[in-house]
Amino acid sequence: MDINTVDLPITLASIRCIKPSGLYSIKKPYQYSGVLPPSEEHLRSNVEYTTHENVPMHNLRGLPSEIKVNLEEHGFALHKLPFTADSTALKTDATALQTYLTDLAAWTKTHFNAEKVLWYNYRFRRSDQKQNIADQETEMGSAELPNGPASVAHIDITLKGGPKRIRRHLTKAEAEKYLGGKYRLRIVNAWKPLSPVHDNPLALCDRRTISPSDLITVNRVSDAGSREFYYTIYQPQQKWYWLSTQQPDETLFFLNYDSKPPNGACACPHTSFKDPGAGKVEPRESIEVRMIVISES
Ligand code: OGA
Ligand code: FE
Repeated sequence: MDINTVDLPITLASIRCIKPSGLYSIKKPYQYSGVLPPSEEHLRSNVEYTTHENVPMHNLRGLPSEIKVNLEEHGFALHKLPFTADSTALKTDATALQTYLTDLAAWTKTHFNAEKVLWYNYRFRRSDQKQNIADQETEMGSAELPNGPASVAHIDITLKGGPKRIRRHLTKAEAEKYLGGKYRLRIVNAWKPLSPVHDNPLALCDRRTISPSDLITVNRVSDAGSREFYYTIYQPQQKWYWLSTQQPDETLFFLNYDSKPPNGACACPHTSFKDPGAGKVEPRESIEVRMIVISES
């Protein structure tokens, strides 16, 4: 039985997406992050957005226990991990953070039957921080300077960018072995709340409901270089999910790149949204870890 067959409770949300345009093929969307003189601020980005109201967000809390979302079909999965990671310690104790990253990569390797799993990036977020495209990109996140929640639907990495990113973290011999086409390469985020989420939850789109033309490549340019990601165009056939009051021991795993997608898109669009029923609550705090997952199939 698939999640499609279950009548899940729905919250109507507004989500921001890139505006459809026929010009993207000749005028590539870009964003610059870094310092610009005020007179050039208008050149920071050529991206236009549009907000879609009343997008149905299906609440995974309503799934019967025998039906599970999974990375293979839907592009995302929900797991209770068997090791503890104290939220305060993750923010303040570098050793506790390293232990969490190591445990998470080891669990992921076993669970997804992988030959190799490497974490390469983590990011803390707090919903009372602003996400600003002018912010200089940092390679690694920090608990002192958390990012804000995502405000536009996106995928972190493109089909072209995936192998490039993976190569950066492999030795020459590993790259030769794993990037030759025989192995399956994935980039998977593990998203964990640091306290129960009462607003600004993560929203995830079933990858089977995405069509390649919904994905628009954007260049994120900074002084450190340039990298590509996708903004996604909203289409009513997309099916979006969330998990109400997500707890620190509930980790959402989701795909940002797949070299051998079995069906649908290569990854899972995601963003955050304001829950219209939330009221005034504590800010959402989370940590997401990006991992390279290398497996035979
Ligand atoms: C991510 C991401 C958004 C958020 O984990 O890649 O985009 O608001 N997260 O936490
Ligand atoms: Fe993301």
